[in-house]
Amino acid sequence: MALRTAGSVLVVFLWSVAVVLGQDGWSVTYTPQSICTLKGSTVELTCSYTYPRGTVTSTFWFTKNDAEGNPVSLSDDPDYKARVTYHKDNKNDCTLRITDLRESDAATYKFRFITDQTGGRFTGNPGVTLSVTDLQVQVTPYSVVSAWKTLTCATCVLTGDPTYIWYKNGQIVTDNTSPYSVYPDAADSYSCALKANEDLHSPAVCVQDQSCNRVTYIDKSICALKGSSVDISCTYSSYHPIKTTFWFRSDKSAPEDLTRDPEYAGRALDSLPSTLRITDLRESDSAEYKFRFNSQISGWGYSFPGTTLSVTDLQVKVTPAAEGQKTLTCSTTCTLTDNPTYIWYKNGQRLDESTSQQYSVNNSYSDSYSCAVKGHEDLQAPAVCVRGESCMNVTYTHQSICALKGSTVDISCFYTHPSWHNVTEVSWFNKWESGVTKDLSQDSEYTSRVKYHRQTDKDSTLKITDLRERDSTEYKFRFKTVNAEWGYTFSGTTLSVTGLQVEVTPATVTEGQRVTLACRTICTLTDNPNPSYIWYKKGQRLTNQNNSLIINPVSSEDAGRYSCAVEGFEDLPSPEETLTVKCEDFYCILY
Ligand SMILES: *[C@@H]1O[C@H](CO)[C@@H](O)[C@H](O)[C@H]1NC(C)=O
Ligand SMILES: *[C@@H]1O[C@H](CO)[C@@H](O)[C@H](O)[C@H]1NC(C)=O
Ligand SMILES: *[C@@H]1O[C@H](CO)[C@@H](O)[C@H](O)[C@H]1NC(C)=O
Ligand SMILES: *[C@@H]1O[C@H](CO)[C@@H](O)[C@H](O)[C@H]1NC(C)=O
Repeated sequence: MALRTAGSVLVVFLWSVAVVLGQDGWSVTYTPQSICTLKGSTVELTCSYTYPRGTVTSTFWFTKNDAEGNPVSLSDDPDYKARVTYHKDNKNDCTLRITDLRESDAATYKFRFITDQTGGRFTGNPGVTLSVTDLQVQVTPYSVVSAWKTLTCATCVLTGDPTYIWYKNGQIVTDNTSPYSVYPDAADSYSCALKANEDLHSPAVCVQDQSCNRVTYIDKSICALKGSSVDISCTYSSYHPIKTTFWFRSDKSAPEDLTRDPEYAGRALDSLPSTLRITDLRESDSAEYKFRFNSQISGWGYSFPGTTLSVTDLQVKVTPAAEGQKTLTCSTTCTLTDNPTYIWYKNGQRLDESTSQQYSVNNSYSDSYSCAVKGHEDLQAPAVCVRGESCMNVTYTHQSICALKGSTVDISCFYTHPSWHNVTEVSWFNKWESGVTKDLSQDSEYTSRVKYHRQTDKDSTLKITDLRERDSTEYKFRFKTVNAEWGYTFSGTTLSVTGLQVEVTPATVTEGQRVTLACRTICTLTDNPNPSYIWYKKGQRLTNQNNSLIINPVSSEDAGRYSCAVEGFEDLPSPEETLTVKCEDFYCILY
């Protein structure tokens, strides 16, 4: 935010005329002479200077003197060095720009220049006074006799006469001045922002006592990886007893509970007290998320800024560097929080020498590279070739597969390699130790149950029969050519093997009650996400085809042993579960 005002220029100019006259042609004119601006913003301190003769050899801005009393240039001051730039539109301009303002930057800034003449040095007094403020609502009585209160938005009067936005209980109110007068109500909180900079706002402040309606988001913005999970949290309080709370997206036409949105089905979880967890993030989840609560009387509005979520994938960008070299960048569309550690993969093999976002490679090899972020090693960027269009790559048909215990699964992949490399060896494995992988067809636990297939010379399928629960693990493919090999650290396909289980709710049931028998799996079957189920009672097939069997009211005749199966896999039923029906009646018969 660059702040300049026509009004203060005039005042300063008149004042500075006196300086010019008193200093024999030496002058520094600051416009304006005092500035109040926001923490985190950018400010420009503008000045121009004159001198009677000679050539200027050095110019700088300073706020402090060193031990010998000499001014210290801001560009030599470690507190400022990275944040200050000098820029000039014409010869006698001496504008200083400071970015990312801190409260500690509040000071008087002076410009000094030195010419090649004897004694030809000059400091422009009195300098520019810079005040740095946070947005902070301050509540003061309107007058000694009035119940009304006056709200101000900043600790100094912001330069540039900005337009203010006021939020009452999270909802924008129309008045847009500061100070702003309100009639206090114990339930009400107020927050303010600047029109040009709406994502910066003050915390909500109570006008009366401390138990008013308030929402405070933990993060203003979050950048997360596609496929990962995120927690968006806030703290809140309500003056009146709360009826409902929910999270919503600010870009939806009406604020509706996200956990009921089909786009978030099975992915959004609203956990108490106030955290929204979204799993398996998609790029379309990038939005501003807000929290709302309602009580009988008041509530929290929907215009107060929430948490902005940006979802990024990882891409390896290749740019030419020095002779024979290329620079690889693991790029994201937003800056990942917490300064992550990067992981690089060359031909499917993790490299340990680099943990930064960029990696330099030799241009003359036909290698492929991918990257990931520590803690999310399974979310790798698609591999790219450093040179040419064909390099080592393996693509699995599924990242994860869920299959039924006792059934057969096909895990498959496609692979590419430079055309002049002949493939010498292919193998599947699920164990690796210090660089050595064990071919599944050589593994005694699998020898009789695995087969490798292929349709072309660019794909491979691993078939595992008679699946056991302990087969649940990650399976990877490896191949070798005469010149190179695909590594073993790149992600493969994760297999989950599920049995079926009958679950009875409630666990103990009395005649006349309602009972539900559910056929449970630990994961959703990949080949058949919505299967038909078959129910058996004492080995006899029932007609019901639902995943749950509801008996209402239950009678003692319903007691017995139940099992379930997935249609098409009738030979793989669940273990039997006994339904016991207690009866209160003397004549009840237990089956
Ligand atoms: C890149 O690889 C080529 C071929 O092996 C080699 O001659 C060259 O020295 C390497 N360049 C660098 C910068 O490592
Ligand atoms: C490797 O496979 C992935 C997944 O299909 C694809 O996105 C990527 O472009 C491939 N890379 C190369 C270099 O062929
Ligand atoms: C690759 O295989 C083809 C056909 O088997 C053979 O003619 C060729 O010499 C092999 N190339 C190399 C580099 O081994
Ligand atoms: C499956 O459940 C639905 C309701 O949950 C019910 O309407 C339907 O009749 C059930 N199907 C069978 C075959 O029992």
